[in-house]
Amino acid sequence: MEAEKIAINLDESEKKILTAVSSGPMDSAYLIDKIGLDRDSVMNASRRLLSKGLVRVLTSVSVDFKLTDLGRKYAADGLPERVLLSYISTNKQADYKQLTESVPLTKEEFSAAIGSLKKIKAISIDGSAVKIDKEKPKELEEKEESMEKVMKGLNLDENEIVSELIKRGIIEKKEKFSETVEITDLGKEVMKTKGFSLRPVDKLSPEIIYNWKDAVFKGYNLDMDIPMPLSGKKNITKQFASMIKEILVSMGFKEMRSDYAESSFWNFDVMMFKQDHPDRDIQDTVHIGAGETKVPTELLERVKGVYESGFKSSTTDSSIGFRRDFDISESKKLIMRGHTTATTFRYIYDEISKHKDLPAKFFSVDKAFRNETMDFSHLPELYQIEGVVYDDDLNLSDLVSYIKEFYLRIGLDKIRLKPTYNPYTEPSLEIQAFSKGLDRWIEVGNSGIFRPETLRPFGIEKNIIAWGFGMERILISMLGVSDIRQIYGAFSDLDFLRNVPESKILRGSS
Ligand code: PHE
Repeated sequence: MEAEKIAINLDESEKKILTAVSSGPMDSAYLIDKIGLDRDSVMNASRRLLSKGLVRVLTSVSVDFKLTDLGRKYAADGLPERVLLSYISTNKQADYKQLTESVPLTKEEFSAAIGSLKKIKAISIDGSAVKIDKEKPKELEEKEESMEKVMKGLNLDENEIVSELIKRGIIEKKEKFSETVEITDLGKEVMKTKGFSLRPVDKLSPEIIYNWKDAVFKGYNLDMDIPMPLSGKKNITKQFASMIKEILVSMGFKEMRSDYAESSFWNFDVMMFKQDHPDRDIQDTVHIGAGETKVPTELLERVKGVYESGFKSSTTDSSIGFRRDFDISESKKLIMRGHTTATTFRYIYDEISKHKDLPAKFFSVDKAFRNETMDFSHLPELYQIEGVVYDDDLNLSDLVSYIKEFYLRIGLDKIRLKPTYNPYTEPSLEIQAFSKGLDRWIEVGNSGIFRPETLRPFGIEKNIIAWGFGMERILISMLGVSDIRQIYGAFSDLDFLRNVPESKILRGSS
């Protein structure tokens, strides 16, 4: 595709102005004369050209001086003080009274002239005698020069003399507002085309980028006032997630991923959550309509078997199962995964059960979804830090070591562990961290050794230890924040998020 060349839609007055200024910048007063439009049409059309980026409009205010009627009279006859001074020097007249009668000035002009000459020390009065002290007073000459400049239309500096002339009504000051219209490069491009047919590009598309040499781009206004800060920043949760991934990789873990939408089978059944038991409501599930998912048939059968009647083993504990019917249609229901332990079990199936080299260590830092109302410590969508280790002879103290090591590495060392209940682990440990913001211990994770019932269908007899930590809760403990909503979601504190120092999460303190 060629760069866009669509009619630019200039109306007649815009075309006239653009044509007029294409030969050089032009004063708008001159434009009005030249193209025979009224002032308003010229002003409006140049504004429209400006917004299309085709011209620049430079405005300036200048001061203009003019002689008044009185000024013009004095320019011809001389200023009263000049008339008086010449009269005295040519007629050798020096008597005050006589002067008032013979000098051709009105009474007011006469006294103004006397005053002015005395002020500049050109004359002095001694009784009735008027004496000339300066034949050619500089100040008077300057006054006359200023008037001459005004007559010639030259520029004047506003000094004391000028203000005196203004005060005496000899010259007047007028402010002149002027606009110069100047064509831009884009305007020139448009002038080159037949019938102003070009449209500047103001949106980038892959085609334009590909044909950028043919395209004419609309100019950017770099002088515009834009509120700062302009810089974007990764949300602290994202930053924290990448850091944690790095830490887990450095501890020898490999990342695992799976989809957000999950079957009840992988989210609940493999972990031996009872199908009709409130166990399933431990995590309030987000259901996705009536969809069904595929579940590996053989595995499903094995899970069903253990669920209904347990198993016998000579090497591990035996189990009698739940001794109830397992409903396959329940297994296939589609939900949003409520915990990333669903991912862990998918990896137990795909990777760990087939793993030859031990240990096998996997992690995920990923989202889980809960049908929960948001409050200071709960989110409907949260990050879980999941970890799983498969090795010979794993026991509870290995689990404790991994947990302690992880929390030490992220810099949250004020943690404690407490026995807890979990349908799929035995024993189970809850992890608590001291939150400065809340000034109390909060639960930040859960862990345990998977029950034999959950591993039997995969043919695994060794112990597997695993954990799931709530990332945002860890984060608020480290930041000393008392409410999760401060860092996450629509009501988060943007100023805080912009300024939170990275060092706080690199090695924070509880
Ligand atoms: N899935 C648990 C939770 O969501 C955490 C957990 C993972 C517990 C693995 C034990 C083993 O809280």
